[in-house]
This record gives sequence, C-alpha cells and structure tokens, in this order.
Amino acid sequence: MRRTKALILIMLTSSFVLLMLYSMLNLQFTNSQGVAEEMQLADITNEAPVISTDTSIKENAIAEIVSQSESVMYTTTKAVQLVTFSESFINDIPKSGAYWNRKLHSFLRQLDATGNVSKLVPLNTHCQPESAESLHMNIPDFRNYPELYQNFIQGMDCRNPQILIDQPRKCASAQKVFLLFAIKSTPRHFERRQAVRETWGKERTYTGGLVVKTVFLLGTSSSDYPNLDKMVTFEAKEFGDVLVWDFQDSFYNLTLKEHVFFKWAVHRCHHVSFIFKGDDDVFANTPEILHYLHSLEPEKASNLYTGQIISEATPLRDVNIKYYVPQTFFDGAYPAYAGGGGFLFSGALLRPLHLISQYIPFFPIDDVYTGMCFKALNVFPEKHKGFQTFDIREQDRDNACVHKSLLLVHKRNAQQTVRLWRNMHSPLLTC
Ligand SMILES: *[C@@H]1O[C@H](CO)[C@@H](O)[C@H](O)[C@H]1NC(C)=O
Ligand SMILES: *[C@@H]1O[C@H](CO)[C@@H](O)[C@H](O)[C@H]1NC(C)=O
Repeated sequence: MRRTKALILIMLTSSFVLLMLYSMLNLQFTNSQGVAEEMQLADITNEAPVISTDTSIKENAIAEIVSQSESVMYTTTKAVQLVTFSESFINDIPKSGAYWNRKLHSFLRQLDATGNVSKLVPLNTHCQPESAESLHMNIPDFRNYPELYQNFIQGMDCRNPQILIDQPRKCASAQKVFLLFAIKSTPRHFERRQAVRETWGKERTYTGGLVVKTVFLLGTSSSDYPNLDKMVTFEAKEFGDVLVWDFQDSFYNLTLKEHVFFKWAVHRCHHVSFIFKGDDDVFANTPEILHYLHSLEPEKASNLYTGQIISEATPLRDVNIKYYVPQTFFDGAYPAYAGGGGFLFSGALLRPLHLISQYIPFFPIDDVYTGMCFKALNVFPEKHKGFQTFDIREQDRDNACVHKSLLLVHKRNAQQTVRLWRNMHSPLLTC
C-alpha cells in the first residue's frame, strides 16, 4: 500500500516537472522571434518529412516554427515585393450590397491610390469564426442559406490551419524541379492516388533532365466519414508525397486548400518552373505537358496560366446546384478562369499569388477564386485545347491514340487511368 502511494507521488511530481519544463520550452519558442527566426527557417528545410499525428512536445515545437517562418516570409515579401491589384479586377467587382463584394471593397478602400498593398495587413489570419448573429445583421437572408454554406461563411476568415504532415524535402533535389503536380485529393481516395503515382504522376526525371515531383493535398477526414488519419499517416511515410492540413476536407474548404498550398509551395518549392494543379480523377498526359512547357518562350513561361478556360460565367442562383452562390453573398460576373480539374501555371507566380490571396476574401468555388487571384495580378488565362475537363467524345475514351495529343481529360477512374497509361506507352501502339 505504502509503495503504491509513493509510486503515485513520484509519478505526479515527475509529470509536474515535465509539464513545467514543457511550458518553459514553449515560452522560449514564442519569445525567440527576431534573430533566431532566420536560423530556424534554415533548420526546418533540412528536416526529414515531418509527421505529427498525436500531441507531443515535438509537434507543438514544429507548429511554432512553421508559424514563425510564415511571419519571416511575410516581412520579406513586405520588404521586397510590391503586388498591386489590377484596375480591371477592382472595377469588375460591383460595389453592391452583397457580402463578399462589401468585404472586398471595404478592404480595397484602405489601399492607397497606387493600389499598393505593402502597407496593409492581410485579412484576418487568426481564426475567429463569425457568429451567426453578426452574419445575420450583414446578410438579411443568412438563415435561409444551406447549412454548409453558413458554415463556409462563418469560417471564411480562418485561413491559417496547421500543417499536420509536411514533406519539407520535396523540392530539395540537386536538380531543379521542372514540374510539380499538386493534386487535390481527400483521405478516402487512396486508390486514385495510387493510380496517379503509378502513371502520370510518377516522380521521375524525363528526357532532357526534366524533374517531375508530386504532392497530394489533403485535409482531415470529414466527420461524415470513418476516420482514416492513421492510414493517411502510413501512406505519407511510405510514399513521401502526401500533405495534410488540419481542416475538414470538404467541398467548401477547397479554397482554403488552394490558399495553404500557395503558402506551402512558396516555403518549400519556390524554385519550381511550373505547377500543375488538379483533381485526383483526371488523366494527365505528362510527356505532352512537358513537351508543351519546354517549348514556351521565356516571357510566356514566366506568366503562364493555362487550361480549359471558362469565360463570361456568372453565379448560379439555383440552391440545388453544387455551385450555388446566393445573390446576397456575391454579385457580379466571374473572371475568366481555368477549370479546376487541371491547369498549369508558372512557378514564378507563386509568390505573387500567395501574397495577393492573403487579401482576397475566400470564395466558395476554388477555381473561380484562383481566377480572381490571377486577374488581380493582371495575369490572363490562356486557352489550351489540349485540356478537356468536360471530357472527349464517348467513343474515343478508351482510344490511346486520341489521348496522345491531349494534355488532360476529366474524368477517369483508377482502373481506366492505369489501362490508358499502359496502352499509350505500349511499344505495340501505332498511331
Ligand atoms: C508602396 O509602398 C512602399 C512602402 O510604403 C513604397 O516603398 C513603394 O514605393 C510603394 N510602391 C508604389 C508603387 O507606390
Ligand atoms: C472547413 O474546415 C474547418 C476546420 O476543420 C471546419 O470547422 C469547417 O466546418 C469546414 N468548412 C466546411 C464548409 O466544410
């Protein structure tokens, strides 16, 4: 009996001491901003993949470093980078009573005459979900919005989720990465990711020394599905190509996914020449994409934004449609934008995109949001007929020869992807 008591006492004291130690450690982290920041930024780039699923001291330390490196990023961009909003972007968003429009314009009013953002602080990056009451004051029919939509608007200013699984060395190879595939996926789409890994998204060096790398962008399992976080952690270790952020992976969080990807890529892969951003159920013809990118004039290569372009689109007002946007939320036309199934852009645009996306309120449709960011930067999307996000004629869908000249088709399941890739690269194929 006495022994157990003593044991308990020892355990209690030691956990208290540990707790004290830990909080001191944490304090040090928060206080060591300044000179130490640069060093820590350098430190994290040399780390192996960071995988943290349980709450441990290590995880908290990493989180601290990640957010510090972000503030370094911001000050450097503040000092050297001047991103201005294009006139056409500002003028084409009506100054109406719609919530998003008001949010943007009240922010833009703070800009000086030159549209100089360098003096402004970014939109709220500390997550303080808006209360339904205050939103009801701002949006008369807020309570009639679909529930998921209400959730989206309440969380619109939560822009800074923690990264749970990182791949810090993704772009650290000796050779510069030519093309980075950034594929939007979701925890339960393991089969699709595997198909991409085995086919068009395989990491390798193509003819001419063109290095291709791949990352899959994930949130956490949404509460409507079984929790697959353990499987995802395993997968990330096994393949080294999975990124996970701490937010629910859902349709209305895709813009958030876009935003955190920009931030990640600026930190980890800012030297890449090009980025392909797309879905996990498309078929990309990597050799043809590389051929196209390689043949671009330098000027175009540094300003590229291409894919299947949707122009003159306006919000759909039917509440039953996936892409519904209420009148009282957003008013006006969409910018011309590249369909989110798959599009290409220059690595040189990453920094400006990341910077400008900190100032544009989130939009419920991710590819429209991306189009807004590009437009604000005065970069215009260019149509490429090789992108078929609405798919090709039914009778051509198994035809490897037809696919040889295309850059992208949507959509193909895992089995079709594997088969198509094999047939396209068969020595027996004569087109
Ligand atoms: C924007 O503001 C910064 C900092 O105040 C200033 O140095 C820069 O010259 C301004 N740029 C333009 C285009 O006015
Ligand atoms: C987005 O993710 C956050 C964080 O997990 C969650 O609270 C929110 O409900 C999600 N939003 C939507 C619209 O799914």
